[in-house]
Amino acid sequence: MSRVIIYNSKTGHTEKYARMLSKELNIPCYSYKNIKVSENDEVIFLSYIYASKIMGLSKTLKKYKVKVIIAVGAMPYSKNYLDTLKDANNIKLPFFYLRGGIDYSKLNFVFRKFLPVIGKDIAKDNKNLLELFKNGGDFVTKDNLKDVINYLK
Ligand SMILES: Cc1cc2nc3c(=O)[nH]c(=O)nc-3n(C[C@H](O)[C@H](O)[C@H](O)COP(=O)(O)O)c2cc1C
Repeated sequence: MSRVIIYNSKTGHTEKYARMLSKELNIPCYSYKNIKVSENDEVIFLSYIYASKIMGLSKTLKKYKVKVIIAVGAMPYSKNYLDTLKDANNIKLPFFYLRGGIDYSKLNFVFRKFLPVIGKDIAKDNKNLLELFKNGGDFVTKDNLKDVINYLK
């Protein structure tokens, strides 16, 4: 039995966190699409959020021994948001939320068109969020992983 990382990433933010974590913990990381994990391995699962849902989570929970769940989204970190995601995804395992970003260059036409519109509604009059939904942005830093690393080391 060994410890491995499985990540699910559409536009790269989650992958960046997974690779940083893999390097830091010195354990392998595998893309969700190309998993080479035994059923006995302990899995750290990272995935992106769409409409409050952690994508691929239920499938992964059914198949593997998931020990920790890490969600990556565009919203700023807050304890409140962490709890909202925990409830929305019915999470009973150790759980972390990390801020990723929005990369419009990697999104398909539909999302490129509609995310700025939906975003205006979500951002309300928060200037930083309005800017993020308008132009995109990348908030991935190693510093955001501090708590995760401390927990897993
Ligand atoms: C259709 C759509 C819905 C999204 N919904 C959320 C959301 O509910 N909460 C959030 O924090 N981020 C949301 N995001 C932002 C993504 O979670 C964010 O871009 C994340 O960094 C993507 O990770 P990836 O680059 O690994 O694919 C959404 C993005 C899209 C395109």
